[in-house]
Amino acid sequence: MDKMTIDPAKSIPAFYAVQSILLTGATGFLGKVFVEKVLRSCPDVREIFLLMRPKRGSNVNERLEKILNLPLYEELRKEQRLNSEKLIPISGDIKEKDLGLSVADKQILIERVSIIIHAAGDVKLLNSFKYAILANTRATRDICILAQNMKNLIALVHISTAFTHVNEPTIEEKAYPPIADWQKIIKMAETLDEYTLKIFEAKCLDYFPNAYTFSKALAESVIQEYSSSLPCAIIRPSMVMPALKEPMPEWIDNFYGPIGLMIGIGKALIRVCYFSTACINTVPVDIVVNEIIVVTWKIGSTIFTDSTFIVLNCISQKNLTHQNGAKIFYKIMIDEVPLEGIVWTPNVIMTDNFVLYYILTILLHVLPAALMDLSSKFSRRRPMILQLQRQLYAANRAVSYFTFHNWKYINTNTSLLLSSIPSDDKDTFSFETAEYDMRGYIKTCIIGFKKFLLHEDMNRLDAVRARNKRVYLFVTIVETAIFIGLWIIYQRIYSYT
Ligand SMILES: NC(=O)c1ccc[n+]([C@@H]2O[C@H](COP(=O)([O-])OP(=O)(O)OC[C@H]3O[C@@H](n4cnc5c(N)ncnc54)[C@H](OP(=O)(O)O)[C@@H]3O)[C@@H](O)[C@H]2O)c1
Repeated sequence: MDKMTIDPAKSIPAFYAVQSILLTGATGFLGKVFVEKVLRSCPDVREIFLLMRPKRGSNVNERLEKILNLPLYEELRKEQRLNSEKLIPISGDIKEKDLGLSVADKQILIERVSIIIHAAGDVKLLNSFKYAILANTRATRDICILAQNMKNLIALVHISTAFTHVNEPTIEEKAYPPIADWQKIIKMAETLDEYTLKIFEAKCLDYFPNAYTFSKALAESVIQEYSSSLPCAIIRPSMVMPALKEPMPEWIDNFYGPIGLMIGIGKALIRVCYFSTACINTVPVDIVVNEIIVVTWKIGSTIFTDSTFIVLNCISQKNLTHQNGAKIFYKIMIDEVPLEGIVWTPNVIMTDNFVLYYILTILLHVLPAALMDLSSKFSRRRPMILQLQRQLYAANRAVSYFTFHNWKYINTNTSLLLSSIPSDDKDTFSFETAEYDMRGYIKTCIIGFKKFLLHEDMNRLDAVRARNKRVYLFVTIVETAIFIGLWIIYQRIYSYT
């Protein structure tokens, strides 16, 4: 059958064949995997406009060129299916009003775009309130205003986060009442200086752990409000982790807070964490991307009504606590996928007692780091461990909130959407998470960190294992010596009293 005659409601690739997509966050972890998947599985897509900002001396064209050379696109390059002329970079900045778009670019988008995937965001948990509101809330409003002007828009998909409604023990797949008046908060962020905003920030955040989750919760309210006139969906991924399968297992290029912590633990730089017993909420990046593609198809191929608006929780709940996850994590690192250059055995004390955490941080992180930096100074190398420990401490404090809270996620809409995938497309676009086992996936993640974030050679596993064994022996000797020393001191003190 001629592919143009296939009913787009019954075929996801046929649906995408005539679409013109605007993707924000195209240079991010999710954005890049989305582009790869669409080019590979929906090759007849008309074009993808990539909203990007110039960065570190590279303009948007140079940035795109660098991105397309990543290992992520290797399969497409090999098969000569990397249709780069379909990728059109557009210069913009989401923290600027009107997304920092030029008048000419805006007009092109208004004329041509039929689908918007809004994935750009200020994702740093420690960024300022002002920046978070402008980049996450106001940018979402400006995306909606742009969408309203578009002549052919059939779907607007907003990427939110699973941690926007932190005061709800059970997170349903629905929009929640606004936590504040988003128009007033945007006005405040636009007009007040950082210092004055700090005063309001404490009041605004209330039970929110940071400005990121607050600004993303407000962004959901923006989408909810515009959903009466626009065909919208909200997807709420939990912590996005390396690819399970596509385009290659293990792919990751995002070094954000929780990932930095995991690598810090793997490298034995982190010996103590301020963590409690909540379950880990993660989801592989390829699962999120498939869900985005499918919900866009769903909304875009149905006639717009009041009930078009869809909210999805994008989570794979495996009931694994942080403690148990960590045990599996470093067992795999010791036995199967060792990391290079470790100086101690990967093992972490997890405590929910802040005083104990603080004392152990000084003993196990600050003091050894100070000693190592001192020895670096003597050998004329740049001291950097204390600085690294400072960053890891900040990351731990930012992430710990999520280890103290358990949320139950309802997935009725997600299951319905999953079952609506046309049978011919099931293999290509499924986002089923029940199928994979967590141990195997943790190993996949570790390999991903090693290969793509640390750029370590997977062919050197035996050599690294042999070196690490010597480190473990050294650690055992040092720990035994310390234990015996403390025992002798204790005995002496005891015999004097
Ligand atoms: N990663 C997760 O665990 C996770 C979990 C839940 C939800 N999410 C959501 O998923 C979306 C994508 O996240 P990600 O994992 O792909 O994060 P990421 O790798 O950090 O990507 C963020 C993207 O936003 C862009 N961006 C940030 N500030 C910008 C600005 N001022 N102007 C233009 N673009 C800007 C970044 O561009 P540059 O390259 O120029 O910085 C990048 O393309 C975000 O909305 C995030 O809130 C992520």
